[in-house]
This record gives sequence, structure tokens and C-alpha cells, in this order.
Amino acid sequence: MSMPEPPLALLAELTHRCPLQCPYCSNPLALEGVEGELSTEEWCRILDEAAALGAYQVHFSGGEPALRKDLPKLVRHASAAGLYTNLITSGIPLNGEKIDALAEAGLEHVQLSLQDTLPEEADRVAKMPGAHAKKLEIARCVREAGLALTINCVFHRQNLERLDAMIELAVALGAGRLEIAHVQYYGWATENRQALLPSRDQIEKANALIADAEARLKGVLLFDHVPPDYYARRPKACMGGWGRQFLNVSPSGKALPCHAAETIPDLRFDNVRERSLADIWVKSDAFRRFRGTGWMPEPCGSCDRREIDWGGCRCQALMLTGDAAKADPVCELSPDHGRILQMVENGAGQETPPFRYRRKAN
Ligand code: SF4
Ligand code: FES
Repeated sequence: MSMPEPPLALLAELTHRCPLQCPYCSNPLALEGVEGELSTEEWCRILDEAAALGAYQVHFSGGEPALRKDLPKLVRHASAAGLYTNLITSGIPLNGEKIDALAEAGLEHVQLSLQDTLPEEADRVAKMPGAHAKKLEIARCVREAGLALTINCVFHRQNLERLDAMIELAVALGAGRLEIAHVQYYGWATENRQALLPSRDQIEKANALIADAEARLKGVLLFDHVPPDYYARRPKACMGGWGRQFLNVSPSGKALPCHAAETIPDLRFDNVRERSLADIWVKSDAFRRFRGTGWMPEPCGSCDRREIDWGGCRCQALMLTGDAAKADPVCELSPDHGRILQMVENGAGQETPPFRYRRKAN
């Protein structure tokens, strides 16, 4: 067995609890409850193991990681272990005092989600009155605490026309980076595909606008943008390739190659309560199954992009073809590409139904 390179980052999903109810939530349909969450001591051990394994950074995420009272302690521990620390947050449970405490504990970067630039629209997506105003206040506190700030916004057919306003808002908030994400259609987002799927025209306009803004705001704002799958000709390298860069640990300790991996029915996931992180990364079945290129059937097996996109997204391949080992149907070379074309044709241009929200345990 050849040794894989160490992961770039640990995605520490501290909890699935969340005050918001975004209709494109990428957490699994079956959320893990608070009673099964890893303890502070267990997370500290995992952070040490991640650093020893060679990971460079930890992303504290969720759900909403700031709902964990031990967050400052975990940040302090990660920082002492030499990991670059990033907090991925809705901002809702935070305030100036808590952000100062996190900064003092060694937090380096905050990635704050915004849903829209119009407060009433943002609050409608998050299904929480006042959420947007609170987030703006948190962005201010983050910058006052001297922390680096990335604004993250998921774009879809109902907010893409305000992409330029979001770019201006990110600059005004002092963000150094804007992550322009598009909805990934698995998990809860598939329930809302019709309400979220943008048109080709919207995507083309957005791409032109981003190209222009990138040139105009060079040195002011960095853009992190992956055009949406459904309108691409080749897939993205999901997670930078299976088992190559990221290691997710779920709130109850399941080690996952990506946040949707549990949708793949015949994979067995090890738990960090039972096996060390290094052992899981190198040897676990789930991480080895789609690592590298040896598992690839045609057309990926002999394709010259197989070490660029790694065959695309396994979870999307499963969802759309019933077989996680097939080429991602986003790829024009996939025999299943017609599924994507059909979905785009069926979805875009049609009426926008109301969102279907799920009620999460808070
Ligand atoms: Fe990527 Fe496979 Fe398509 Fe080649 S055939 S571009 S490896 S998905
Ligand atoms: Fe699982 Fe893409 S989300 S491989």
C-alpha cells in the first residue's frame, strides 16, 4: 500500500446544531444529536493527531461551531499544536466579547456566511428574523479584533442578481476574501433544487461580473469562485480528490472523506473514538476506496484529466447514476451526462416554488 500525502486540513464538525435553516444546507439529512457529540478531551486529542499527521490547518465548522461552549479551549489547543485556525460560522451565537476571547485563544481567520445583501431576503433564506443585521455586527467585531475575514455567500437563482452588491458589501466590511459558492445539489438542497437552480443566462452574467471585479479589486479582495457544476463541461475535483486533502470528522467522531460521504451506502466509516486519525487516513476502507485513479472505470480510467478532477464528485455520481464509482455526470464525456442536461432543462426557467425548510434541533 503506498502512503498517501498528509491531509491539508481537518474539517472539525463540532456540532450539527444550528440556529439557521438554510434550504441548501449541506449537512446530512439525518443530523447527529448533541448527546453523541465528542467531548472537549476527545477533540483535543484529535487536534493533536491531525497536527502529528501533518495537517496544516483546522476548520472549525458545523452546524454552528460557536454553539459549543468549549470553542475557545479547542481553538487554543489547535493553535498550540501548530495548526492554522479558521472558524466557519453563521455568527449568530457570537458577540464582540466572544470574538475577542477567540482571538486571544489564537484564532486566525473567520469565515462568515451571508445569505443575501437585502436583510429581509437574507433572513428569509436563513429563516431567522434579524439574522442579517447580527451578521453585519459580527463582521465588524471580527475586523476590530484584528482577525482575517472571509465572507461566504451561497448563490442561487433568487440572489444572483445581487452578486455585485455582495462584492461591494464584502469590501465595505473589510473582508480580504469573498467565497462565491453555488448550491451543491445533495442532501437537503435536492429538496429545493427547483427553487434554487439558476438559469444559464444568470450564470454567464455572474461569470463576467466576477472576472471584471477580480481585475478591478486586485489587492483589495480575493475571489474564491468555482462555477456551478451543472453548467460546466468538466467536473470539479471535489474535495481536491477523494482522500487527498481533507479529512472530515463528524460531531460524533465519524471520519469522512467528504461531508456527504455517508450517502454512499456500502462504505464503512471508522470512528476516531476507536482508531487513530493517522490509521484512518492511511488505511481505512472509506478513504482508500476512491483514492487515486486505480478504481476508475472508463471513461475516467484513460482520460488525461483523471489526476486533475479525479473523476469529479463521488456523491453526485451516486445520486444521479446510482453508482458512486461512475464518472460524475457533470462531465460531458460521461455516458450519463444527459441526466444533467435534462435536469437543467426541467429546472431552469420554470416557476420558483417556496423553500422547503427543515426544523433542526437547536
Ligand atoms: Fe474527469 Fe472522468 Fe470526465 Fe475525464 S472522463 S474529465 S477524468 S470526469
Ligand atoms: Fe462527496 Fe463530492 S460531496 S465526493
